[in-house]
Amino acid sequence: MVGILLAAGRGTRMKSETPKVLFDVNDEPLCMAPFRALASCCDKIVVVVGYRGADVKLALSEAAKREMGAARFESQVLFVTQDPPRGTGDAVRRAIEGAGHAVSKSEEIIVLNGDLPLIRGTTIERFAKTCRAERASSACLSFRTSNPKGLGRILRDETGVFTGIREEADASADEKRIREVNGGVYYFSAELLTREISSLQSGNAQGEFYLTDLLGAKPGRRSEAMLVRAPNDLMGVNTTWELAQARRIAQSRLQRALCEEKGVDFRDPASAFVSARAQFHGSCTIGPGVSILGDSVIEAGVVIEGQVLLEKAIVRQNAKILWGCVIRESTVGVRSSVGPLAHLRPGTELEEGVRIGNFVETKKTRFGKNAKAAHLTYLGDAEIGEEANIGCGTITCNYDGFQKHRTKVGARAFVGSDTQLIAPVVIGDDAYIASGTAVTQDIPSGALALARANLVIKPEYAKRLLDKKKKPSGSGK
Ligand code: UD1
Ligand code: MG
Repeated sequence: MVGILLAAGRGTRMKSETPKVLFDVNDEPLCMAPFRALASCCDKIVVVVGYRGADVKLALSEAAKREMGAARFESQVLFVTQDPPRGTGDAVRRAIEGAGHAVSKSEEIIVLNGDLPLIRGTTIERFAKTCRAERASSACLSFRTSNPKGLGRILRDETGVFTGIREEADASADEKRIREVNGGVYYFSAELLTREISSLQSGNAQGEFYLTDLLGAKPGRRSEAMLVRAPNDLMGVNTTWELAQARRIAQSRLQRALCEEKGVDFRDPASAFVSARAQFHGSCTIGPGVSILGDSVIEAGVVIEGQVLLEKAIVRQNAKILWGCVIRESTVGVRSSVGPLAHLRPGTELEEGVRIGNFVETKKTRFGKNAKAAHLTYLGDAEIGEEANIGCGTITCNYDGFQKHRTKVGARAFVGSDTQLIAPVVIGDDAYIASGTAVTQDIPSGALALARANLVIKPEYAKRLLDKKKKPSGSGK
């Protein structure tokens, strides 16, 4: 089978500059779901792009290559351009012209609208099987809806035979009352499609070439509209509200698969969000309000409490992420604990057993095994040795207004509270920095560093000062 994916339209009803097919569903472009469905059952896929075609091609290629591998993608997928978009029939004509032999040598063609974020390969396979069994030369999937507005109505004669599809803009008042609509999933024999595609006319209310004009039975030609009873798969997206409904279902399906296949435990599935690109390696706990975006990896035994954002993060076995953390492009090591309310910025690497506490911000910083920064600290461009302890209020002063500089803290070093590490600076292994020290030079291993202004104490002075302030004004007269 050859698959044709229609993704050239702008999606005017979305009221956005972004092409409709590039809106995000489960952290992927919307058109990735119909693409995946075609890839599961077709040998060749022709994608028709038009409005911002280069962007659509780039985004879909990236997502598809990640899934099917570059070699398979290059050999199976072809992009053709339809410019200007003159209707779904015109888009299919461009696909056939662009694909040449691939289409004419095939026997069956599946055409899919690119705006079906819930369509699945199994639905298409079942559809194609039924078409074959019934020897239909063309067919579409249909569903019943109480709100058919904007969709093509399925026309049937008094015996129930499918006679055609009427687009809303061309429908009579009677036809508009029909509740069975076209779902945008089509099956054609290649022979019929290649023969008839150029006979389409655009003399309709929208002045477009409608692919739907090729459907409907005629003498000597079987065409079916196959009614789907659970029509979620056919949910098309034309407005951002429809997109919002589809996203919920797509996310719920993804979470369900993770529960059933990996034992992921979602405490509140409705408020959690996981990317289709994220990988889960085993049973773990995902609390309410947790978003896991991009190519994140969550290993077994991980607990993520709640209200956490992870983006391209790797969380190793049995690590714990407490409430309210933001972690981007970073690694949390085995049995490490982060948060509550910590911010790990890109390039943070925590080895095993590291503890990062509340109000700690890190960037491009590596922590050795069992190192700790338990409270209120900024560590940037730094390397923290094994078992080192970073006290509350420690700051790496890594930026001099022009350049970033590095800080190195040795193994088992103790950095007292309120220390300023003026980079570039190296603290040796087992060194001890007293609280309140501004470290402006390297500290040798095993040394104590202490830099404090002298403390001045004036007995009774505060009391006198207070008494003076309390005297009522004018009392001296
Ligand atoms: C289409 C069907 C309608 C059906 C509905 C289901 C036609 C004429 N109508 O209407 O019967 O009920 O889908 O969702 O087919 N596209 C192109 N090139 C174009 C126009 C559209 O590639 O010139 C692509 C779009 O990017 C989109 C898909 O085709 O992915 C459907 O286009 P859309 O404008 O959403 O069609 P509908 O009006 O929804
Ligand atoms: Mg549509």
